[in-house]
Amino acid sequence: MSMTYRIAVIPGDGTGPEVVDEGLKVLKAVAGPAGIKFDFHFYDLGGKRYLRTGETLPDSVVHELRQFDAIYLGAIGHPDVTPGILEKGILLKARFELDQYINLRPVVLYPGVDTPLKDKGPEDINFVVVRENTEGLYAGAGGNLKYGTPDEVAVQESINTRKGVDRCLKFAFELTRKRHMAKKLTLVAKTNVLTFASDLWFRAFEAMAPQYPDVITDYAHVDATCMWFVKNPEWFDVVVTDNMFGDIITDLGAIIQGGMGVAAGGNLNPEGVSMFEPIGGSAPKYTGLKVVNPIAAIAAAQMMLEHLGATKAAAAMDAAIRKTAANDMKSMAAGHMGLTTTQVGDRIAKYAAEFV
Ligand code: IPM
Ligand code: MN
Repeated sequence: MSMTYRIAVIPGDGTGPEVVDEGLKVLKAVAGPAGIKFDFHFYDLGGKRYLRTGETLPDSVVHELRQFDAIYLGAIGHPDVTPGILEKGILLKARFELDQYINLRPVVLYPGVDTPLKDKGPEDINFVVVRENTEGLYAGAGGNLKYGTPDEVAVQESINTRKGVDRCLKFAFELTRKRHMAKKLTLVAKTNVLTFASDLWFRAFEAMAPQYPDVITDYAHVDATCMWFVKNPEWFDVVVTDNMFGDIITDLGAIIQGGMGVAAGGNLNPEGVSMFEPIGGSAPKYTGLKVVNPIAAIAAAQMMLEHLGATKAAAAMDAAIRKTAANDMKSMAAGHMGLTTTQVGDRIAKYAAEFV
């Protein structure tokens, strides 16, 4: 009996639908050879639906999303919608309501891909960031007083709970052990200034470390981390950090791995339903031109398979992405790939089916 995975697909806005199409193409190509099946259900969440109906992510849809094995998301963001409405109303609502408390963001330089870092190659850039995904500055705590007046006060608080920090750290320690690479886990925070929040992270980290004697623990301030990502990316194996710092350092991570066209991530609830997405935005100016790189979306689908336990199909997809990036593409940048979005998807689909 072959395994059937029920997947909710949210193509979203801008170039989201065109890169999701390529991800689905590759998933369908590996399904047969890998002996698995997919049952895709599409949701039209995004800017267009919001402009038409005023809805972002209705509670009834959240309820439906809970029933799937995973969620595959393209991009959310529309030029005609005020910033924040769709991000908070769809993306962050999904992360929070589904308690996807880990945002897993691999930073991997595929062979043949250009990095802006001088003298660094694939052997130097291969780490993963574990970003806490439900708390911190993203919790939405705070408010304005005397809004819009010269006396205005704005407060935005970072919420860090011991439970939220502990479950994130536990995931990161387990991942470090499982990756079996340098077995080094770096906590990134700002203990020299954030003497309440970063201090909680630091104490929780130190308290958990003895349970993982095989893991080397390290600490770096977030500002210094930005410097080390550029100067010595080979120092990192697994990085664990809070929501805001994780957001910032993973854009830096994305550019050292070749740009937003390559970077994928997973919003994980290890006990519930997880959501996989390319981490770049909806790129409105490129919409419909078929010039954006679908690798990030395909790599997100690959992470989804891995998460679902379809490891053979996931490994084949990874090998196919690497082969295409190394041999068939001129660049990872939109408009400079030497292939269209569709052609990149075609190649990866073909190789992936052969590699299963
Ligand atoms: C990301 C994005 C989101 C975030 C935005 C769109 C809300 O930048 O996934 O990194 O800040 O988490
Ligand atoms: Mn971001």
